[in-house]
Amino acid sequence: MQATKVMTPAETVKWLDRHVVGQDQAKRAVSIALRNRYRRRLIEEPMQSEIYPSNLIMMGPTGVGKTEIARRMANLVGAPFVKVEATKYTETGYVGRDVEGIIRDLVRSAVNLATKKARQEKREEAEARVNKRIIASISLNGVNYGSEEELQELLDIGRLDSLEIELSLTEKAIGVEIFPMIPGQGFDNQMNDQMKKMLDKVIGKRKKKIRITVSDARKKLFEEELGRILEGGDHVQEGLKLAQEEGIVFIDEIDKIIGSEGGSGPDVSRMGVQRDLLPLVEGSTVSTRYGPVKTDHMLFIAAGAFHGSSPADLIPELQGRFPLRVSLDPLSELDLLRILTEPESCILSQYIQLLAADNVELIVEDQAKKKIAATARYLNDEKEDIGARRLRSVLSYLLDEYLFGAPDLISGRIRLTGRKAKDRLGMLVERRDEEGYIL
Ligand SMILES: Nc1ncnc2c1ncn2[C@@H]1O[C@H](COP(=O)(O)OP(=O)(O)OP(=O)(O)O)[C@@H](O)[C@H]1O
Ligand SMILES: [Mg+2]
Repeated sequence: MQATKVMTPAETVKWLDRHVVGQDQAKRAVSIALRNRYRRRLIEEPMQSEIYPSNLIMMGPTGVGKTEIARRMANLVGAPFVKVEATKYTETGYVGRDVEGIIRDLVRSAVNLATKKARQEKREEAEARVNKRIIASISLNGVNYGSEEELQELLDIGRLDSLEIELSLTEKAIGVEIFPMIPGQGFDNQMNDQMKKMLDKVIGKRKKKIRITVSDARKKLFEEELGRILEGGDHVQEGLKLAQEEGIVFIDEIDKIIGSEGGSGPDVSRMGVQRDLLPLVEGSTVSTRYGPVKTDHMLFIAAGAFHGSSPADLIPELQGRFPLRVSLDPLSELDLLRILTEPESCILSQYIQLLAADNVELIVEDQAKKKIAATARYLNDEKEDIGARRLRSVLSYLLDEYLFGAPDLISGRIRLTGRKAKDRLGMLVERRDEEGYIL
């Protein structure tokens, strides 16, 4: 199943099921939110503009799949999507990235999407122009290859690929940045753009004559012609519109920008970031290098572990802008077993492949898999519950001997039985107070 067309909620859940175990409530909420974007588009104005997305917060303990859902979503939606970590931003006026940078990133990704689409659509047109120019230049060479149609045919079958022709190409003005790009600092980027355009005008667009084979000419001319067709085209506008109407912003670690009442230092700054987020989520206009963009209809999804805190600790105005809450469940032993073995490229097959790369064929018996899950659950209960991440530490402890031994000391087929897993993991459990393998 290729995730490009707009999926129904049931299809979205099915797709997510391939990678994320359980967490049905969150999958459901996300899939409904995505579908609502599509539904809205089918509704006539003025109603359409009245329908705002219902932003949602995913909350749940650490390591249970929040970020994983977001990552998978990114591949799923054909819409512009950005995933950011709230902790990466600082209050406006302080050194660092301000939150408007999120929207600029979204717009950039939307314009890229639109450009890609436009390039696809204009491909043929550009190719036709390239052909024309090549034919013209061959004719100038004075050799007679027959009528234009005959020449075209020779070109099509690649008979003239190595023929040398003379072409005049536009020289790209400059290949270097005037100022270093500073992510999220739109002003500088805009400056950069404008400077480039100016310099393009002054020194650029010079023509250069070169001798070149037909097949090389085709590549060079293609970019030039495509660029010319797209120049001043409306794909940028389309990108802006796409970001505005269909953009999705995923803000991870939102719980990390909770500050305490009357706090100081970093706390103040965190609260500041929350305040800065308000207008974006509420709907405001952000200026970007491509032009102003309105955030009113963008969908915001936030996630956080809220360990020792709750969404109620966010500043009230921000809470109100995330009316939907879904919680993700802690992982049971059975969940862990499924996470270990079921998702596409699940962690167990990752290790099996790693060993296979060194010619060790590892066969893990079902009893051993169960033992791994049980141990992970046990350690999560005894120590801190770090969710599915525990599987990795258990597994690397269990397989340590093989991972170290391959390929010098171990090769060929190795069978990991339930008994062997039990013995080895028994040691891990006994040693659980020691540092090292146990996170
Ligand atoms: N339900 C699940 N299904 C499949 N894999 C999972 C699941 N939960 C966690 N994992 C795996 O465990 C790891 C950690 O999960 P993830 O990054 O989603 O945690 P999180 O919920 O975002 O935690 P945190 O609050 O600490 O950021 C990932 O490698 C992910 O693949
Ligand atoms: Mg996470």
